[in-house]
Amino acid sequence: MKQKIIAHKLKTDKKLISILKKLPNNYWDFKNENTKEYTHSIHSYPAVMVSPISRNIINIVNKVMKVDSLFDPFSGSGTVLVEGMLANIKTVYGNDINPLAILISNVKTNKLNIHELKKEVSILLEDINYDYNENIDFYERADEYCKKKLQLDITSKNGWGDNAPKYLREYINLNKINFEVPNFKNIGYWFKPRVILQLQMIKNHILTIKNKNIRNFVFVAFSELVRLVSNRRNGEFKMFRMLSVKVENFTPNVLKEFNVILENNVKKMHSFVEACLKNNSISEVKIFFNNVIDLFDIPDLSIDLVITSPPYGDSRTTVAYGEYSRLSLQWLDLFELSEREIMMIDKTLMGGTKFRNGFEFSIPSKTLNKSLEFIKNIDLERAGDVYSFYLDLEKAISSIAQKTKKGGYQFWVVGNRTVKGELLKTDKIIIEIASQYNMDYVYTIDRNIINKSMPSLNSPTNVVGKKSKTMCNEHIVILRKQ
Ligand SMILES: C[S@@+](CC[C@H](N)C(=O)[O-])C[C@H]1O[C@@H](n2cnc3c(N)ncnc32)[C@H](O)[C@@H]1O
Repeated sequence: MKQKIIAHKLKTDKKLISILKKLPNNYWDFKNENTKEYTHSIHSYPAVMVSPISRNIINIVNKVMKVDSLFDPFSGSGTVLVEGMLANIKTVYGNDINPLAILISNVKTNKLNIHELKKEVSILLEDINYDYNENIDFYERADEYCKKKLQLDITSKNGWGDNAPKYLREYINLNKINFEVPNFKNIGYWFKPRVILQLQMIKNHILTIKNKNIRNFVFVAFSELVRLVSNRRNGEFKMFRMLSVKVENFTPNVLKEFNVILENNVKKMHSFVEACLKNNSISEVKIFFNNVIDLFDIPDLSIDLVITSPPYGDSRTTVAYGEYSRLSLQWLDLFELSEREIMMIDKTLMGGTKFRNGFEFSIPSKTLNKSLEFIKNIDLERAGDVYSFYLDLEKAISSIAQKTKKGGYQFWVVGNRTVKGELLKTDKIIIEIASQYNMDYVYTIDRNIINKSMPSLNSPTNVVGKKSKTMCNEHIVILRKQ
């Protein structure tokens, strides 16, 4: 009996490999494809996996086996989950440790009643406009008050930057307006006075929406707005601020920006709901807020197909998802997170633990150990960072394997990066580690990164200004549970 099962699995592998080998060379490039359809891109997110990757994987795997359950353990903004719904997979699970990712992916996968949504949004925008026009001087003159009356430099970290709530309270009292003052660390460094007041006014109105799903949908647009009207440098995922001269001249039209984002998102939700209707999608989606190493909520041996793109490395030297989400989370205060918890998110991500004084070569991967040996001889601390990330990756591989059904497939979309001149071959490392957790290697697809929204150049040496080329292509490693 056991032999029969193994033979069947090998037959499925062969069929899968044969389909993959027949695809044209540029099949995975998606140079001219629309990657922003439906609810994809209702909110930006670092290192999003472009939607056609998971769409095509699902289509291909469907040809060799029945897929009833799909899981993305690092679901981020929820791309895989949306595609799972469009493909009408019965059970779709997501998981992430970043609260903002949970909000975005819940909203993206929650089919709303469009009629009700449009009605609520129209009332909201009317109320906001009314409030603004009634109190236009209050909302527009705050910068002038701080600069001229209080003689503050509103581009400075000190004075206005670290005391904004105090000055805003004075301004609000002076205007005799009943208005809560938002208060979090460095709010004045990241936002100018009139922007803070207008954001708070919009937030106050959003909070009056009774339907929680619609309210969260609108909060996603608000979160995108927060980033756009902040003093952050545009197009950066890290917390870099504009130069002071730029901050001085930066006067975003907060209400207009919000209208544009929200109305665009409504259109996106509309097209998503229609597509799901067309495909008769009745997928059940569950998204969990757990560390990937403790997937308590997902039943063991229950997953047919895993599609995922883990982080590239620790968040300090690669993508800082927590830093990216910080201002949104501070404004949203949806998750009862303390200031400290928000600031600590990056430390809870893969590779967050420090190994300052050395480490054991305990991870079952020859390829990794060779690289660690090389880096350790140049920089022990950096080698500790690398070790920390792969130690968490090993724990992730183990816990995801536990959830995967026998014969189920895993597709890992990974990029290899360079540290201290050493290329870390994550694709090979995953294969070696996974073999210890009952996962057989099946095949690797190599793809060129064309649409991925992250820098193709970084500073792996951690020397300011010194850049080297990394991650212009990606590997999709395919594994199968024994
Ligand atoms: C490359 S992103 C995934 C992007 C996603 N595929 C998308 O299209 O938006 C990696 C994700 O892993 C999450 N992550 C990092 N460490 C984690 C951990 N220990 N447990 C769960 N999620 C984690 C990050 O918050 C981030 O959202």
